[in-house]
Amino acid sequence: MEQISFEGRVVIVTGAGGGIGRAHALEIARRGGRVVVNDLGGDVAGRGGSASMAEKVAEEIRAAGGEAAANHDSVATTEGCNAIVAQAVAEFGKVDVLINNAGIMRNDTLAETCDEDWDAVIATHLTGSFKLTRAVWPHMAAQGYGRIVYTASSAGIFGNPMVGGYGAAKAGIAGLMHVAAMEGQAHGILCNGLMPNAVSRMAMQAAADWAGKLEGIETAMPASIGNAMQVEFNTPLAVYLASEHCTVTHGLYSQCLGRMAHVFIGATHGWQGPRDVPPSVEDVAAHWNEICDAAKGYDVPLGATQEHALVMSRD
Ligand code: NAI
Repeated sequence: MEQISFEGRVVIVTGAGGGIGRAHALEIARRGGRVVVNDLGGDVAGRGGSASMAEKVAEEIRAAGGEAAANHDSVATTEGCNAIVAQAVAEFGKVDVLINNAGIMRNDTLAETCDEDWDAVIATHLTGSFKLTRAVWPHMAAQGYGRIVYTASSAGIFGNPMVGGYGAAKAGIAGLMHVAAMEGQAHGILCNGLMPNAVSRMAMQAAADWAGKLEGIETAMPASIGNAMQVEFNTPLAVYLASEHCTVTHGLYSQCLGRMAHVFIGATHGWQGPRDVPPSVEDVAAHWNEICDAAKGYDVPLGATQEHALVMSRD
């Protein structure tokens, strides 16, 4: 198969000073992309900041013969998001790809989560992904080409204890991706989500925070996983979604222990109640098994109006 190239493409990778984002940035640069390496350079909870993390990775790319610019603005602010995009345009003339990857972690039970932690996590993951989407949009729409990769998480799509703000943000990112994908179609902007898995600074923090608090929940990994929890295992899927080769949009994909899969949200064919009067609560109880029975078939609507069409199609 022909090599998938990023020659001539300008790519922003947020949170690329370490972990999964660094692996994405190195791989795209190796394939000829000019990369804006963004990283706040703070701690795992998003406190503090420095230019060094982004600069180190940008330097690593340059040392390998690639092109990169370092940026340490925060994705958690409007000014930061606008500055990241402005830098890409100023240094490389355009933006073709945005990989929303930056993230922080502040773990606690829902009852113990303070407003500050909730707000910081939502601002970084969800609002940051929105503000960057908004900032790259006019550039991508004007050139009729764009790829946006959103980083969701099984913690939000499937659920996990102790990660209230994080899980909500990650599920929200999937929702943002659905909307961006639909709005982007007319402009050649393809939008997809990645659910990665890796032992990274963030994952180590999560394991430490959860230690002793998650009774009855197995968090240890079996030895048979080999190297599949290395950050690099997530990069091929992310880079594929970010490439010209990718023609899909509106999809969510999981990389878990080396297994890559399409994750979708479906609705069972369910029970069709009356359309002239609302059903009773007893009707719901009486049809509960039918409502939940996926074995009889299910829909995977791509968009809210498609759900209506799919329901009506079974009349
Ligand atoms: P990481 O902590 O190594 O990387 C996150 C990077 O984002 C850090 O380098 C950090 O400095 C940067 N960052 C934080 N706040 C920022 C801000 N306001 N502006 C710019 N940069 C900022 O963790 P990891 O695991 O590499 O995480 C990457 C992404 O993957 C995150 O969105 C995370 O939520 C997601 N993810 C990771 C999983 C895992 O198993 N490691 C599982 C599911 C999702």
